[in-house]
This record gives sequence, structure tokens and C-alpha cells, in this order.
Amino acid sequence: MYYKLDYKLLILWMLLLIQVLLVIFYFVMAPSSFEQLTTEADPDNGKNLHPVKFIVTETGKYSSQKKNIPRYRTEVQSITLETSEVGHFVTLNGTVCFILGTDVEYMKRLKGFALKCECKQGWHGRDCGQPEVVWRAYIASQQKISPKKRKKPRRLIHAFSIINLEITLVEIKIRELSDVVDLFIVCESNYTETGEEKSLYFQNKLRKGFLHDIQHKILYVPVQIYKNNEAHLQTMKKELWLRGKRAINNLRDDDMLVLMDTHEIPNTKALLFFKLYDSWPQPVGFRLRWSVYGFFWQHPKKTITAPGAWSVQLMEDDYHSDLSKIPTGDEALSFGLVIGDLNHYGGWYCSWCFHPQDVVLALQGSKGNPVKWNKVDKKIDANSIEEHIGSGLWLDSTTMLVRKYQYGDPYYAPQYVLNNSWKYDFLLTNFYARNDYN
Ligand SMILES: *[C@@H]1O[C@H](CO)[C@@H](O)[C@H](O)[C@H]1NC(C)=O
Ligand SMILES: *[C@@H]1O[C@H](CO)[C@@H](O)[C@H](O)[C@H]1NC(C)=O
Ligand SMILES: *[C@@H]1O[C@H](CO)[C@@H](O)[C@H](O)[C@H]1NC(C)=O
Repeated sequence: MYYKLDYKLLILWMLLLIQVLLVIFYFVMAPSSFEQLTTEADPDNGKNLHPVKFIVTETGKYSSQKKNIPRYRTEVQSITLETSEVGHFVTLNGTVCFILGTDVEYMKRLKGFALKCECKQGWHGRDCGQPEVVWRAYIASQQKISPKKRKKPRRLIHAFSIINLEITLVEIKIRELSDVVDLFIVCESNYTETGEEKSLYFQNKLRKGFLHDIQHKILYVPVQIYKNNEAHLQTMKKELWLRGKRAINNLRDDDMLVLMDTHEIPNTKALLFFKLYDSWPQPVGFRLRWSVYGFFWQHPKKTITAPGAWSVQLMEDDYHSDLSKIPTGDEALSFGLVIGDLNHYGGWYCSWCFHPQDVVLALQGSKGNPVKWNKVDKKIDANSIEEHIGSGLWLDSTTMLVRKYQYGDPYYAPQYVLNNSWKYDFLLTNFYARNDYN
């Protein structure tokens, strides 16, 4: 016991020594560089000290570029959609295979005896281009579908409105989809749904360099009018596409428009499939995994089906490009194809995936929310939200959520969140869990 204590003390002393050495090192090194700086920057020997401005950076990664110059697009600019020329296919002894879905190494080892593409687990089709979710959707639809590989990838536009403070989810969405989406049309209003004044959070962030490396793919559409609370979200939807469409100078009938809310993130593999292949029934619905507060809780209803993807042509034919005419909620919208089922999800619907204090703010600004105010015995504040998150209680204070574990679950969370688990730890781990739930 005493020996162990001494040992700990020794380590502490060593750490202290290292710190002292570091401080000494700093003082030995610092003056020379400091002198250089002052002589260079200040020829008047300190008489006219200019204030030094620091550029605040988001991640530090792009600080060397001119990060403070916004690159996002506005409607006054004319936007040309590019066709991405990334090679997704490889020809192996005369057979064309989709790289991502094919076990290319195995086929090379067969040295020419491979007569067909050998698909990796989770990929199907003659050229291994159909991800599990698409393959299953075909089977479920009971239609005979024979997709054809396109000569050039289709261009894909994803349009959505930011209603509240969903900046974290916007970042996840855009980063997750930026390889397959050619243009994001993002709408934001300076009014909340209930008509209160609010600032243009997303635009302010963009101006400060948020998502700087992807900003050239973002068309920002501000909506600065307010009619009434029934019409507000519909107005945003309508403006979003009418004004966005007008800004694009080379829109084609077969370009694809994907519409989803901010907290809905479609499956990237499915989107890539629709980019590269023709001949599938429209419109496409996405059956999303319904996560709550983070990816560690799932709503007992498990999934929610969200619209959807349309070709520009179909959107024009059916709705004359007016997105507010698309049926919402319980009104039936019949899909040609639905991507995702109860075990293989067409994406994620992360509801109330904020820090507790932001859940409270978002509740205040939203009109339709699940809180049953007559059942809430105390005020909804950050503490009570923490309790809900901790014990897995839905916002109606009655419905119990289903606990989900990351291990062995291929659909636990979007890939970008898993890649950056340190940054999104609050969405992956339930920090408010009570012991008996862990
Ligand atoms: C392609 O396969 C045939 C046999 O099916 C073989 O004779 C030929 O050498 C192969 N070519 C290459 C480039 O592997
Ligand atoms: C929203 O923006 C418009 C245009 O700048 C402005 O006229 C209006 O007063 C703003 N509304 C609020 C609530 O700030
Ligand atoms: C996740 O990380 C892998 C490996 O570094 C990378 O190939 C992939 O593009 C990343 N995906 C996203 C969505 O960030």
C-alpha cells in the first residue's frame, strides 16, 4: 500500500518536472521569435501598435485558405450543374463491375476465370451495383425492374428548409451526402413557424466559413416574408424550389430532386444507385430509421416513410414545380418504390437530436410537437429533457423508447457520424443514462 502511494507520488513529481522543463524551454525559445515579430511588424519601435486580428476558424483545417470569403451561391448567380466524372466502374476481363460493390481483389486472383462480377456482402445485381436496400425494395415492389447503367451519372439536387437551430444536423447531412449530391438548395427564414423574429443562423455560419470546402455546392435561399403559421413551412417549400430552379441554367428533365427535412438523412448508397442507373419507378419514398435524441434510442414505431425523390420532369408534370402541393402527413402519397424496411433502412430520421437546452428552444419555436402539455406535471426545461433522454421517454412523457446498441448494427448511424465519433459523441452515447439502463 505505502509502496503504491510512493509510486504514484513519483509519477506526479516526474510530471511536474516535465512541466517545469517545458516552461523553461518556452522561455528560452520565445524571446527570439518575439523579437523578430516586433521588429518586422512594428518599425516604429512600438509607437503605433496596430491591433492584431485573428481569424477564427471552425476546425483549423482550412485556416490557410481564405476562409472568411463566403463561397456559397445565391439566386442572383447563374448556377451550372456539373456531371461528376468519378469512375464508379471497372472492366475486369470484359466484364463491367461496380467497384464499391465488387470484390475486385478476389476477381483479380481468379486471373481471367471470373466470368461474372463477384459481389461483396450487401451488394447485388449483375454488376454488383444494387445495394441491399435497393435490391430489397425491388423484391418488395413485386415489379419486374431491370435497371440500366447510364452513360453519364444523373445530377442530383437535394433541397431542404432549416426551421430551427438544426445546424448540427445540417452539417451531418451535408457532409454525409456531399459526394453524391451535386447541389444543395437550403432555405432559411428570419421568422419562426409561429411568426417570432429569429436570426438567419445558417447564413451567419456560412459567412464565418462553416462548411467552407463544400460551400460552392450550396445555394442559399432566404425567405423573409411571413403570412401565417399555417402557411409558413409551405411557403418556404414553394420558394425553395421555384427560386432555386430559376437559378440553375442547365436543368434537365432527368435530373433528380430529393426532398427531405433537415433531420432526415437518406441512405447514400441508394442515392448513388439512382445517380448511376435508369429505369426505376418513381417517385421514390425512403423508409427511415426513427432515432430519438441521438442514435441510441429508437421510437417504438421504428420507421417513418419520408418523401422522396422525383425526376425534374415528374415534379413538373405532377405539381408544376410547386413543392407545397405535395401531400404531407397522413394524406396518401403513392410511391413507385420505397427504399428501406424494418431491418435495412433507407436512411435516418433523427428527431430532437439536440443538446437538452436546444431541445427546449426548439420546442418553444415549433408548432406541431409531441408534448402533451396536460400530462406534463412540471415545466419542460433542460433538466426534464435530460431525464427524458436518460430514461428513454418520448416527449409525450408516456411512450417508452427502444434502446439501441452500436456494436454489430450496420445501420446504427450515418457514416459521417461514425467517422467523427469524438465530435458527435452526444448523439452516439447516452450521457444522461441512469445506471440501470446501461
Ligand atoms: C479472360 O478470360 C479468358 C478465359 O475466359 C482468358 O483466356 C483470358 O486470358 C482472360 N483475359 C485476361 C486479360 O485476363
Ligand atoms: C426579415 O427580413 C426582411 C427583409 O430583410 C425584413 O423586412 C423583416 O423586417 C425581417 N423580419 C424580422 C422579424 O426580422
Ligand atoms: C468515412 O471514413 C472512410 C475511411 O476514412 C472514408 O473513406 C469515407 O469517405 C468517410 N465517409 C464519410 C461520409 O465521411
